[in-house]
Amino acid sequence: MSEKDAGARAAELRAQLQHHAHRYYVLDAPEIPDAEYDRLFQELQALEAAHPALLTADSPTQRVIGQVLDGLQPVRHARPMLSIRTETDTTPAGAEAFDARVRRELELPEDAPPLAYNAELKFDGLAINLRYEEGVLVQATTRGDGETGEDVTQNVRTIGQIPLRLFGTAPPLIEIRGEAYMRRDDFERLNALQREKGAKTYINPRNTAAGAIRQLDPKAMADKKLSFFAYGLGDVQGWDQPPTHSGVLDAIAAFGVPVNADRRVVQGAPGLVAFHQAVAAKRDALPFDIDGVVYKVDSIELQRRLGFVSREPRWAVAHKYPAQEQVTRLNDIEIQVGRTGKLTPVAKLEPVFVGGTTVSNATLHNVFELRRKGVRVGDQVIVRRAGDVIPEVVGRIPGVRPAYVPNFRMPRACPVCGSRVLREKGGIDHRCTGGLFCAAQRKQALLHFAGRRAMDVEGLGDKLVDQLVDGGLIRTLPELYTLGLAKLSALDRMAEKSAANLLAGLEKSKDTTLGRFLYALGIRHVGETTAKDLAKHFGSLDRLMAATLEQLLEVNDVGPVVAASVRAFFDQPHNVEVVEQLRAAGIRWAEHEGAAADEGPKPLAGKTLVLTGTLPTLSRDDAKALIEAAGGKVSGSVSKKTHYVIAGEEAGSKLDKARELGVPVLDENGLKELLNGAA
Ligand code: IVH
Repeated sequence: MSEKDAGARAAELRAQLQHHAHRYYVLDAPEIPDAEYDRLFQELQALEAAHPALLTADSPTQRVIGQVLDGLQPVRHARPMLSIRTETDTTPAGAEAFDARVRRELELPEDAPPLAYNAELKFDGLAINLRYEEGVLVQATTRGDGETGEDVTQNVRTIGQIPLRLFGTAPPLIEIRGEAYMRRDDFERLNALQREKGAKTYINPRNTAAGAIRQLDPKAMADKKLSFFAYGLGDVQGWDQPPTHSGVLDAIAAFGVPVNADRRVVQGAPGLVAFHQAVAAKRDALPFDIDGVVYKVDSIELQRRLGFVSREPRWAVAHKYPAQEQVTRLNDIEIQVGRTGKLTPVAKLEPVFVGGTTVSNATLHNVFELRRKGVRVGDQVIVRRAGDVIPEVVGRIPGVRPAYVPNFRMPRACPVCGSRVLREKGGIDHRCTGGLFCAAQRKQALLHFAGRRAMDVEGLGDKLVDQLVDGGLIRTLPELYTLGLAKLSALDRMAEKSAANLLAGLEKSKDTTLGRFLYALGIRHVGETTAKDLAKHFGSLDRLMAATLEQLLEVNDVGPVVAASVRAFFDQPHNVEVVEQLRAAGIRWAEHEGAAADEGPKPLAGKTLVLTGTLPTLSRDDAKALIEAAGGKVSGSVSKKTHYVIAGEEAGSKLDKARELGVPVLDENGLKELLNGAA
């Protein structure tokens, strides 16, 4: 590149970076994902390195960005809030390079024993400094530019996990630093609410958390549940600090401030590499976003000796993972028809590596949301894939569009079966009216019916369902049980062994429970829990099918919408026929005279329990099933009426609430004792 071209490109990059930095840091409304920002930043860095004459004092590469908003009060940090060097090499080499650098700086001989590091998660939120005087939270500040932050005490006080007073004997002054963030489930709930209201959805948990905390009006925090993890200290007076970082974290946890449990003291580079890989493997299963892990030299004495380069400690590094948001081209918008006939616009994308996998389809939810986001075919769009949430198009990059791209419209006829598409008055979803005439609905109904939480038919996946429906082998659910070896073996790629497997899976599925069967039928508004409640209340299918609206309304948690939907389902003769055919096919369960006639010891009868965090051996489903089998009820939130809270690792705000209300808290062993009747 000529000097002139390089100069022009550098100027262009600077202008872009300045614009995006302002959107990100000051307005909390970024237009592009971090990974894209980093790419532009690195391009500028490379240009400036190759052409040093181009370097200007005001280049974004030359300063730490961050500005204090007018509305929030600036606060000078007692000790600067530093950032950490980022290792962008996501392979093990990144960890090895850090270890080698530290050993070199410490002038350790080759044969010196491995160094101890504290390895922890890099939370993707907003850095906050919590200042406690005599154990009382007196101020909370953002990082700002590292020297001066903003006073966000009022908003931070609304974060339930942050204690307003430290536990135990607190020092006269201690500043605890950490990350305020939003859990993925809290984020999804918030967006579901926004969708219901027809309001704009939020891009990602990080920006939402940052935006909420920096709002001038603390009421803006009300619907946004935030969480917090501490990772270090600021100013401290009158306290004998533990000699290791891991010890500091233990002490912070003992003060009652949340510290993430996924931290470990490891030895040398192999320990760092193992941690990086172990966390990568469970990244999707974590309840919150992380963008990497952080390694810190564990000994505080060694940290002192290592010191800082510019504003970054030599004793810490952030080791990244592939980004969870990326930019790609929206090639097309297709319509997918779901089990209930709902039409979902799906983005067909130029394949892009995001959140650890290649994504080429992403949901656009519904036509109204699509319009609010303003995306059109041909746009550069932002794709987010985090955890097990389905990939989603969250927005577009503003840019030039070809002269004419029409606005997306929902089809009037179902793209699969041609039936009329309708939208309920005032509703947001378009639906195909074809019912089980529609192959798409039939396929989804089959998949739902066979699902793990429903009839649990092993060996029946997407591909096979496509073949069964497209090949005309199955038109109704009961026909599933009339499949024979001969019919199945005729199918493509359906080797005899897998045909036999499916038949065995079907046979096994016949032994079920009434709750599972009801859920499998796919009655609108009847989820797993409602199905169980209905089964428990009526005890038999015939009693349920004969129930009046009033009788249905007597069921735990059943309101008018659910009751009407159940009644409407069994009022349709063809649904009753399906049910009868399934029973005739041999599907069976134990019937009883309703809840009152349940047999066996019920040590938890009348007790309400709340589960929180991860238990060491029981999955949440298993724990719930055991509690219910013992006559207990599992509730989603802690109140004065809760009898016990069962807490595992990473228990969140429910645990705090339990402590606040004085509800007994037990671990898994405690639960087992209760189940055995020790209560
Ligand atoms: S330590 C001197 N530990 O990442 C070291 N930071 O650039 C100070 N972050 O703004 C930071 N998780 O908000 C540290 N486990 C962790 C972290 C963490 C997330 C954030 C932090 C800071 C940025 C570092």
